[in-house]
Amino acid sequence: MKFFVDTAEIKDIKDLNETGLLDGVTTNPSLIAKSGRDFKEVIAEICSIIEGPVSAEVASTEYDGMVAEGEHLAKIADNVVIKLPLTVDGLKACKHFTSKGIKTNVTLCFSANQALLAAKVGATYISPFIGRLDDINLDGVELIENIRQIYDNYAYSTEILAASIRTPNHITEVALAGADVATIPPAVIYKLADHPLTKAGLDAFVKDWKSTGQSIL
Ligand code: E4P
Repeated sequence: MKFFVDTAEIKDIKDLNETGLLDGVTTNPSLIAKSGRDFKEVIAEICSIIEGPVSAEVASTEYDGMVAEGEHLAKIADNVVIKLPLTVDGLKACKHFTSKGIKTNVTLCFSANQALLAAKVGATYISPFIGRLDDINLDGVELIENIRQIYDNYAYSTEILAASIRTPNHITEVALAGADVATIPPAVIYKLADHPLTKAGLDAFVKDWKSTGQSIL
């Protein structure tokens, strides 16, 4: 499963890129607002750090505006992916970009039917929001399972990008459900490496090694 980081913070992206765990980046208007920086400058900077796909979301909610903004964003770098909302206008814009060979990420997906529509217009990625469904007592992971089955039934090539990830358990669950990608907040990526037995075991090894008085180098 590919890991994208869900942030517009350059330091977090640089640090994670150095771990070798990172395959791409997603941003959204809320993350850009949180960064306090100019949108296009941030996207250009992220694209200069990361070779993989970098999602940049249009602000317009109308077809013509989405196409104009998406074409502008696509010129920033070859690895920009145009992020479009799952509305009829967004799907129509997705079809436009698909026909031009520009990659797309259809976002704000909350149902299997919505995911089916995104696949039909050739979206590169569909982003089902797991955490926001869990927040209202629905089952985000079940949505990933359903989309996986539908896409496999018809051999759709749209990749399932599990979004709105909140916990390390979400990662295990969406990986088991067959998500192609998860976009994850930086803190959750680091938590995936944690285990109390790893920590306790390492502490003991360090103590015992010191007691030998040896050095490897
Ligand atoms: C994905 O593309 C979204 O930016 C993100 O995962 C939304 O997460 P949130 O529900 O925690 O805001």
